[in-house]
Amino acid sequence: MASINTVLGAIFVASFYFCGSLAFFPPGPGHHHEGAHHPPIGSAPIPGLSTDYYRLTCPQADETVAPILKKAIAKEPRVAASLLRLLFHDCFVQGCDASVLLDDAEEVVSEKNAIPNKDSIRGFEVIDEIKAALEEACPQTVSCADTVALAARGSTVLSGGPYWELPLGRRDSRTANMKLANKNLPPPNATLHRLIKFFRRQGLDKVDLVALSGSHTIGSARCVSFKQRLYNQHRDNRPDSTLETSFYHTLASACPRAGGDGEIRPLDLVSPSRFDNSYYKLVLEGKGLLNSDEVLWTGRDPEIAGLVKSYAEDEALFFEHYVSSVTKMGNINPLTGHDGEIRKNCRRVNQEI
Ligand code: HEM
Repeated sequence: MASINTVLGAIFVASFYFCGSLAFFPPGPGHHHEGAHHPPIGSAPIPGLSTDYYRLTCPQADETVAPILKKAIAKEPRVAASLLRLLFHDCFVQGCDASVLLDDAEEVVSEKNAIPNKDSIRGFEVIDEIKAALEEACPQTVSCADTVALAARGSTVLSGGPYWELPLGRRDSRTANMKLANKNLPPPNATLHRLIKFFRRQGLDKVDLVALSGSHTIGSARCVSFKQRLYNQHRDNRPDSTLETSFYHTLASACPRAGGDGEIRPLDLVSPSRFDNSYYKLVLEGKGLLNSDEVLWTGRDPEIAGLVKSYAEDEALFFEHYVSSVTKMGNINPLTGHDGEIRKNCRRVNQEI
């Protein structure tokens, strides 16, 4: 006979999938646990942004985004990861203003060619498709910066991750800053000390660093992003000693010493397209793919290591902190009011008439 636990478990799993299918509608009370442990700093209102910003001007924004995302992710699950990463790479460079989406032009040096982005960030075609649909539904209303934020939130939910109330109303920059992209986006071989500094520069703390690194529960990285760990971690021609042995061998066979730099490996080898807490479990086992993942555990910061352990043990806690931290990241330095513009095409600034 099924025990009460099995029955409750089944209800939980069923409700989880049910919420997933209603991806863009807020779950009922009690589903997410904002702020019980970590104060919801991220939810502190930002002047000019609000969760019902398009209530009168584009109430169908969410419904417009959802089917396009669903289709794109069904076709290629990795696209969810790529879209989530776009929010990070947008917000860390002059704020969440869609600067990352601008192509090279007379007045624009595209951030797409910055070292952390080149041959790496992706998902632009999906953003274009969503934006075109939004323009059709509500012309010149929903910004590209909000489009990126909506796509990131939707991608997280569709991958099984948490839902969050998304403040909207960001406007789009008329500039990009490739130099700042090189300066502000952390490299994968950064020490823990440097990672903390990169995040602090954006007003983000250690909890944010650990929780947001959990985004590496989905998606992939190229060999070039972690090769140093396999062959020359400390300029000593030796592998990173914190890599678990069998994991090291799998990686080394996929990424030879010479060549193969563009080959990709999943960031979370257990469930590469499911947004869950297995990333932290892997990091505890020496199976974090990037140096920046592994140092959260091995970098000798007791608060940070403690958080990794807590998230590995408690997925609900990870989700709760994630919601707070991703909200905070999405609120970095937005353009509001009369600043910036609502781009018609996310790849270029509007032409002055
Ligand atoms: C803590 C500092 C971080 C570092 C050093 C870092 C670095 C990287 C690198 C090197 C890759 C692989 C790129 C490639 O090989 O082409 C990657 C992938 C990814 N990153 Fe991060 N990242 C960090 C934080 C974040 C944050 C805060 C987010 C989101 C909120 C994020 C989301 C992702 C996702 C989803 C992918 C997979 C993308 C795909 O498959 O297209 N990362 N990251």
